[in-house]
Amino acid sequence: MKPYPYIITISSEKGGVGKTTLASNLAVFLKALRENLPVTILSFDNHFTIDRMFARDGQRSEGSVLEMLEGEPAGSLVRSGQYGVGYIPSSAGLNALHARFTDPMTLTRLLAESGLPGVVIIDTRPDLNPLTQNALYAADRVLIPVKDMASMENCKNIIALAERRGMEREALALIPCLVDERIKYEGDTRDQKTLLRAFAAERGYRCLDICISKSPKVESLTTNPDGKIYPILTHARGTEVHGQFREIALDVLKALDALPAPRASFLYLPGPAEQGFRPMQDFPVRAEGLAERCLICGMLLAEHPEGRGFYYETSDWTRRGFLHSSCFVDVLCAALYGLTRDSQGYGIARLVVAEKARKQVTLIRSRRVGDSDRVDIRLFDAEGEQQFQKELSLDEPGEGEAVGTYDRLMQLLSGALPGEGTGAWLAVHPVDPEYPESVLGEEQYRAVHHVQSVISGAAGLS
Ligand SMILES: Nc1ncnc2c1ncn2[C@@H]1O[C@H](COP(=O)(O)OP(=O)(O)OP(=O)(O)O)[C@@H](O)[C@H]1O
Ligand SMILES: [Mg+2]
Ligand SMILES: [Zn+2]
Repeated sequence: MKPYPYIITISSEKGGVGKTTLASNLAVFLKALRENLPVTILSFDNHFTIDRMFARDGQRSEGSVLEMLEGEPAGSLVRSGQYGVGYIPSSAGLNALHARFTDPMTLTRLLAESGLPGVVIIDTRPDLNPLTQNALYAADRVLIPVKDMASMENCKNIIALAERRGMEREALALIPCLVDERIKYEGDTRDQKTLLRAFAAERGYRCLDICISKSPKVESLTTNPDGKIYPILTHARGTEVHGQFREIALDVLKALDALPAPRASFLYLPGPAEQGFRPMQDFPVRAEGLAERCLICGMLLAEHPEGRGFYYETSDWTRRGFLHSSCFVDVLCAALYGLTRDSQGYGIARLVVAEKARKQVTLIRSRRVGDSDRVDIRLFDAEGEQQFQKELSLDEPGEGEAVGTYDRLMQLLSGALPGEGTGAWLAVHPVDPEYPESVLGEEQYRAVHHVQSVISGAAGLS
């Protein structure tokens, strides 16, 4: 499977707050802190600041973000720049592209398909033009520099936009920038940083604990006779800002490590080869197309919402929905252990199966072997390690209770799978019975998809 990049977008509707300084120096610090992490930076601005910092002397100059946005593979446009950072050269001609980026998911797709590894940092222009909106949508993490109340007021548009697109609040953070430590106020909010934090908290915005101080040394790094811009890492050692950038980079690495999979990996899933990448929509869309009935008992879930303990999805994403815990556990008991309600000790055995099922992901697919219809059932742990496999024949339903099992399994499969021979599978995930819908939230859904891509790969199905 191609890697998906982890995307960090730096955005603020206010100009001159330190976006580009943050984007470019974050790239340098990330690379310095983790040498083996590929870091790529690109800018939608036409200031060529990125280029002045990262270009090596005499590097060829054809190919830029313009070509990337026109669909050229991003990987082929990345140059290996200074300080180990890859960069895609800037372009002054991006305005003409706005009309083609009215769909906010366009960039997400381009980046998901790019196969770029590691971290991609996107520096944006100080407005919410279509490219900025695309960059916000693609982001795993959005950093919003704010330096005063005006920039704080401005960021509400960015936050509102990101939230409408189903991003979690946790993914967005303000960073007080250009903080002048010398300014002191009377009262509780003693300084600029505390004041900005109080303002952010009042509005419910997340604000990093770290801020970036205003420093004459940092300011001087952009004005050099050779036209180059030097990074804080190498040319502002010993300043407060140096330590602050290190902290920010560590914070980003921590978030990166905590993430099961980048956002792009569920926004765009690799479908069957001929279909290419398949978009995965926003939370409202994910929550929309759910099946109305429990696949197993057939009851309307709106009328029997209690006890929904499992979420299922087919590999082609055409069928998705919830199952009652008791319904699914009965099927597992019967299918995996041949246990039915008549079996001795059924109550206890069922508890054990239920307990196990809560920690596992179940993969079910039907196969035709010769003339025989078979069901392949596999259990995986949360890391995608296979724990159990069983193949059942559906040819002879048997008698009594077994018929019920057979029927329920058939119901499950025929209700969900698009048909034999398609290679389609069904994955069933345990969810929080108190609030099953939370599985569709950004983080949890990402985890669902991560494990699905691992297990379908392991089972040789993808
Ligand atoms: N910590 C800092 N201390 C002092 N000066 C800084 C600091 N960070 C940035 N600057 C200076 O502030 C100016 C604006 O910074 P920068 O270009 O990063 O902002 P920006 O938000 O990208 O601006 P624009 O909206 O125009 O793209 C630059 O001259 C930069 O050198
Ligand atoms: Mg800038
Ligand atoms: Zn049911």
